[in-house]
Order: sequence, then C-alpha cells, then structure tokens
Amino acid sequence: MTAPLYKTLMDYVKNQIIPFHMPGHKQGRTFPEEYLVNLAKIDLTEVPGLDNLHNPEGPILEAQKLAAKAFGARESFFLVNGTTSGIYAAMYAVLNPDDKVLIMRNSHKSVYNGLVLTGAVPVYINPEIDYEDGIPMGVDINKLEEYLKKDESIKAVVITYPNYYGFCSDITGISDIVHKYNKILIVDEAHGAHFPFSNNLPLSSLQAGSDIVVQSVHKTLSSFTQSSILHLNSDRVDTNRLKYSLSLFQSTSPSYLLMSSLDLARDYMEKEGKNRLEKAIIIADYARYEINTIGGVRCLGKEIVGSFGIVDFDKTKLTVSVKNIGIKGTEAEKFLRENFNIQVEMADTFNILAMVTLADDKEKIDLLIKGIKGLANVKKDKKTAEEVAAYPDTPEMVLKPSETVRQKTKLISLEEAEGCVSADFIIPYPPGVPLICPGERIKKDMVKYINVLYNKGIKILGLKNNNLLVCEI
Ligand SMILES: Cc1ncc(COP(=O)(O)O)c(C=O)c1O
Repeated sequence: MTAPLYKTLMDYVKNQIIPFHMPGHKQGRTFPEEYLVNLAKIDLTEVPGLDNLHNPEGPILEAQKLAAKAFGARESFFLVNGTTSGIYAAMYAVLNPDDKVLIMRNSHKSVYNGLVLTGAVPVYINPEIDYEDGIPMGVDINKLEEYLKKDESIKAVVITYPNYYGFCSDITGISDIVHKYNKILIVDEAHGAHFPFSNNLPLSSLQAGSDIVVQSVHKTLSSFTQSSILHLNSDRVDTNRLKYSLSLFQSTSPSYLLMSSLDLARDYMEKEGKNRLEKAIIIADYARYEINTIGGVRCLGKEIVGSFGIVDFDKTKLTVSVKNIGIKGTEAEKFLRENFNIQVEMADTFNILAMVTLADDKEKIDLLIKGIKGLANVKKDKKTAEEVAAYPDTPEMVLKPSETVRQKTKLISLEEAEGCVSADFIIPYPPGVPLICPGERIKKDMVKYINVLYNKGIKILGLKNNNLLVCEI
C-alpha cells in the first residue's frame, strides 16, 4: 500500500501518543463498538428514507430537534463544515453589504472571512490583554456599551466566548447590553459545546440569551472533526434566511458519518456523558492543583477571574505557563512529545494548553503531571521571549475587508510602508491580537512600533523578512 497520509495517521495511533488535544472523543473512546465497526457501511447518501440536511423532514430533523432540547436551543442545525461554516451562515443571515458589525479584534479567521463574504463593515473592539501571560482575554462590557451607544448604525455583535484557553467574558452582561440597544448577538462558542452539560462549567451563551450560537461539538464533546451545531434562540433572526445561508455554505453531499456522530454525541451526553464530564472537571482540577505545586510552572485558573473582563473559566482547559523555567511554550510542547509521548493541544510563546475531555481518565492525567514535572527540571537560564508593550491606537480603515481582497498587492519593506494600505494581518505573538488588519492605513507610529517588536525578536505574523504585503492603491 502506498498511502502516505493514511500511513502517517496509523503511525500516530501505533505510537500510542497520549492526546491532550482535539477531538474530544480522544480517538474514539466514547463511541459504541457497533458504530465503529460499521463506519464505512453507514457512509451513505440521500437515498429515500435517509432524509436530506438541506430540507430535513425525517431522522435528520428528529436528531436536530433532540439536539435543540439537549443543548437548550429553540432550533438547532447540524454543520458538516465546522463552526467556520456556521459563523459564515450566521453572519450572512444577519448582515447586508455595508452593514456595520461589532467584532472582537482577535476574532477567529472565520469571522473575518464572514466580513469578506457579506461585505459588512467591521467595527473592532479590542479584547482586554493579559500581557504577562501573553493571552487576549475578555471584553470589557462598559467599553462594549460605549461602542453601541456611540454608533446606532451597528447592526450586530459577534463575540468569541470562551477564548481558546477557556476564559469567559460576562456573556450575560454582554447579551443584556446588546439587546438593550436592539442589536443581534452572534456567539462563536466553538470552545464551549460542553458548557450546557454541567453546572460546574461556565454558563453557555445559549442560556445567557444570545441570538445565534455556534459550537464545535467535535472540539470539546465527542463527535467527529468538522461536525458542529448552529443554535438559533431568538425571534430577531429571519429563520428562512438563516436556512438559506446554511445551505450556501454546506456541501450538497453532507457526510452521514459527521451527522450521525453529532446525533451520538448528544445521546452520549444524555446518558453517561454527563458523569464523564463531571469526572473530567475533577481530574482537571486535580491536575491544576498538582501542577501548581511544581516549582517554575503555573497552571492558570481562578486568579484570572475578576481581571481582563473575565468572569469565569473552563476548568477542563489546562493552560500551563512555562515562562519562568526559561523555555518557550513551543519548546515545552516538543519536550513533552519527545520525552513523554504526550501531545498537547497548543503551544504559544509562554504557555502550553492541554485539553481534558470526557474521554480522559486519571491515569492519563498522572502522565501529564509527570511530563510537566520533567519539564520543570530542564531549567534554562536564558530569558524567553519579550512581552509586548501596550498597543498603539487601532489604525484607520480605508477599505472594507471585502474590497481589500480584490486589490492587487505587492510586497514592500517595513521602512517603505508608511502611508500604505495593508493587504494582510500584522499580528505579534504574543498576544495574538492584530496590530493591523487588511484594508487599514499603516501610519508612522505603527511602523516604529513594529520595528521595536521586530528588533526584540517577537514573532510577527504577516511580516516576512521585515517585508509586508500592501495594496497597490
Ligand atoms: C474561536 C474559534 N472560532 C471558530 C473556530 C472554527 O471552528 P471549526 O474548526 O469547527 O470550523 C475555531 C477553530 O479553531 C476557533 O478557535
């Protein structure tokens, strides 16, 4: 057999790498045996009796109704192209060209691409930044209100809740404010599909009154990668237009494997899944405690609550700062993989992020703790990356994102960039919040600021050998 991708995947499995990453089912631990042995056989298509995702009347409709009930939504729609497609559909259903939408400046790429697809005009709100840990955190609800008070023409608000690291803004406060000003609230809850199933986790934005909520069930629950759900919970959105938008961004051959895995993930949560989730919370809390007894590392948690617009956090996310042992998060990730056969979900400059899900057990958690103890012993004296100082003001937007992508572009040096309109994002890591977004004017103070970061050795996405892409206008 010559199948390099298949072989690589099988090697990953054979090497028994311990996954502290997505998808939440952790290599099939939550599925019934009958499902796993029949996977290829139920990879079917829309023959009579099997229903049609684009016009569901039978078992797909029934499965979606059961999901709506379990997650606490008025209506739920299965997605086979991830939360990405749900964000597109939500924005397309709500926004017309030139409508203004308030979005977080560090939104996921799908939100930005939603601007390109809809022709909407972004009004950016900066997240509060924890510079010490290098993490963009929550939204200050007073600032949010100021934006809505100042600009009546804003039609909708898109909020990421929780952030990748599990930290949560005050979603109830946000929902109240957005609705006080008669706007529509779309929540990118990609990392919070498990929230509706435990009182020991933050509130789901579904329970906080959001209008549309999109969740990656594959990330934190137990369906297959790429399967997500869009939930509708309000009268403020035109359901027919939403259904049209969903069909626009989804395949006409939606995978029955993905859809059935969503159905099973919901069923699992109504049976043993809830208990498994409680267990996951307990073992993750135990890990947080143990990790915090190891010198040099710090597992982030409740001390963040009350700062940076954060009111709660997801205990199943273990964000471990390795800054004080003198190595980068990316080096820590490599060390754990090479020495302990552990793969974490993500590494940034200062931290690693390990995801605990309902498919994990204490045995695996103990291996993670052991790995982190090993990590803490590789003391290095040198300083890790620098922190970024407070950002300059957000630049002026000259072109909408939908206009920017249609421009001819050229690569120029940073020194020549003053006055040009950027064609790309310029994002320093940490903290991963854009300094410049496509379509924005690059001013002198920004060139100076980027130069300072560049000379400090901070990783800057969008800068290639001190060159950047600008529009030819
Ligand atoms: C905050 C956020 N939103 C949306 C998405 C897109 O989700 P999906 O992978 O389900 O398309 C991601 C994925 O990483 C994400 O982190």
